Amino acid sequence: MTSGEEKRLAYLDAMGIQRWARRSQALPETSSASSVKGEAEDVDAGEPAAQGEVALLGWDELQARVASCTLCPLHKGRTQAVFGVGDHAARWMIIGEAPGADEDRQGEPFVGRAGKLLDAMLLAIGLKREQVYIANIVKCRPPNNRDPLPEEAAACAPYLQRQIALIQPKIILAVGRIAAHHLLKTDQSMGALRGQRFYYADTDIPIVTTYHPAYLLRSPKEKRKAWADLQFAHRIFSEATLGQ
Ligand code: URA
Repeated sequence: MTSGEEKRLAYLDAMGIQRWARRSQALPETSSASSVKGEAEDVDAGEPAAQGEVALLGWDELQARVASCTLCPLHKGRTQAVFGVGDHAARWMIIGEAPGADEDRQGEPFVGRAGKLLDAMLLAIGLKREQVYIANIVKCRPPNNRDPLPEEAAACAPYLQRQIALIQPKIILAVGRIAAHHLLKTDQSMGALRGQRFYYADTDIPIVTTYHPAYLLRSPKEKRKAWADLQFAHRIFSEATLGQ
C-alpha cells in the first residue's frame, strides 16, 4: 500500500468509514441524484444599496468591507469578522453556517473541532484544505452559537454572493441545514436535500448538501451518510468538469 493510500484510509477512519463498506450501501438513492436545476432561487438580495456596490468589489476591498461591516447587530459581539479562506481559484467551495468561538478568535472559518473533521472529510475525497475555498453564510459569530437569523443572513448575503462570483467554483458543498436552507431557499430537512444536485441561483454551479461536521461529531452514526454525500458530490464535480 502506498503512503498516500494509507493516509486516505486514515481520513476514512476519522470519518468512521469502514473500508469494506459496500458501494450500494454508501451511496444516496440514485433516483434523487438527478439534476434538479431551477430549484435554487437567487440568494437573498440583502440590503439593496450595499449589494449593488459589493458586487463590484475585488478581493481586498471585499475583505476590508466585511472587516468593517456594521450592517447587522452581530458586529457588536465579534472579535473579528471571519471572511473566508482558501484558493481564490478553487474548484470546490465549501459553505458553512457561521463562525464559532474558535473561528471568531482566529479569524478563519472551520478551525475548531468541527473544522478538523471537515478537513478529514475533504481529504477523504482527495482535497486538501488549501485547495478549496471555505466561507460561511454569515461572517460574524452569533451569540452563544445560536443559528443566524434570516435578517443577519440577508445582510451578509451580498458578501457571499461576491465571493462566489469571484471564485466561480465548479461545485458548492453546503454543509449543514443553515447553509443549505439559505442557498437553496427551502426549509426541507437535510434528509430530503442530500443526494440531490441543485444549482446556485441562475448559474450552472452545482450545489450538493451534506451534514454539518458539528452535527456529525454529535451523531457519529451519520458519518456514513456524509461519506455517501461526499462521494456523490465528487461524482457531480467530475461530471461538471468533464473534458475541462
Ligand atoms: N461552523 C460553521 O458553520 N462555520 C465555521 O466556520 C465554524 C463552525
